[in-house]
Amino acid sequence: MSNMKQEILKLLKNDRFISGQEMADRLGVSRTAVWKNMNALKREGYRIESVTSKGYHLTGHPRYISPTSLEMLVAQSELFSHVEYLPTIGSTQIEAMQKLEHHDGAYMVVAEEQTNGRGRFNREWASPKNRGLYLSLVLRPNIPISEIIRFNLFISLAISKSIDQAFRIESGIKWPNDIYIDKRKVSGFLTEVVSESGVINAIICGIGINIFEDEDIMDLPNATSIEREMDVNVDMDLDDFMEKLIRNIEHYYHRFLNEPFSAIREEWKSRAIVFNKELRITETGESYMAKALDIDDEGFLEVLDRTGEIRKVISADIEL
Ligand code: BTN
Repeated sequence: MSNMKQEILKLLKNDRFISGQEMADRLGVSRTAVWKNMNALKREGYRIESVTSKGYHLTGHPRYISPTSLEMLVAQSELFSHVEYLPTIGSTQIEAMQKLEHHDGAYMVVAEEQTNGRGRFNREWASPKNRGLYLSLVLRPNIPISEIIRFNLFISLAISKSIDQAFRIESGIKWPNDIYIDKRKVSGFLTEVVSESGVINAIICGIGINIFEDEDIMDLPNATSIEREMDVNVDMDLDDFMEKLIRNIEHYYHRFLNEPFSAIREEWKSRAIVFNKELRITETGESYMAKALDIDDEGFLEVLDRTGEIRKVISADIEL
């Protein structure tokens, strides 16, 4: 059996009520073993209650993500074969990079806290303990490096959609790598590649999502958290969010490998928040005001600057 704790959690999640004996029978283990593993799950933050003559049932989930449910997700994944879960690390991005030679397939590194979290343009990414999600995904697509712009478009859609589905809020994509809720940034991702002769060996995609209110995050201009933006009555279940996030990433990554951007262009555009407004665009040291007109099939943003010139932007810092 892969891992008894994972199997018990799966049974508890699938069945409304299940007796200790039934769990033991289904898993072919002793009732003592079931009981010990249920206690371990309780220590992880799951609330498991027993009702006379009905059995056990799950009544609550941990406040933060649980390593067991992450491992369960990866065990069921067709894409990821390994997850490394760390209480603290400098940066999951560096850790993921250092593990490239240890794993062949796709894997992820998740940390509860980063002491040296990094954002785009080498900016700091505030990563206080258990306040946000900090993860780096390693993917090995074996495609030309020029495809990386398209990758970002597919991934941004996966992140934005997962936030909306899990927390019932409306997020939008600020091209190229940010997710916003109502004019404030809730998530950003960073895509780095290891390549050889123009072909990608590995993509290391680091995703940061502000989940809970925290003064380190809230002090930043234009930052917000899921907790701040969502309706207080919606249950914040991070196991459920991680499941949606990983499934959406698998889905959109598969589509990225097999479909052109035009296949998701309209869906992407319906979430984009850069159109029909004046933007400050900074690329390679030059800064100018422009209005975004469209996005082309390669993922370049077409903008109209104040001199009336139409420009194509490949990668830039954009201020709304
Ligand atoms: C940005 O908006 O500038 C991108 C932020 C990316 C942050 C994530 S958190 C997990 C991973 N590890 C890091 O050090 N950075 C990325």
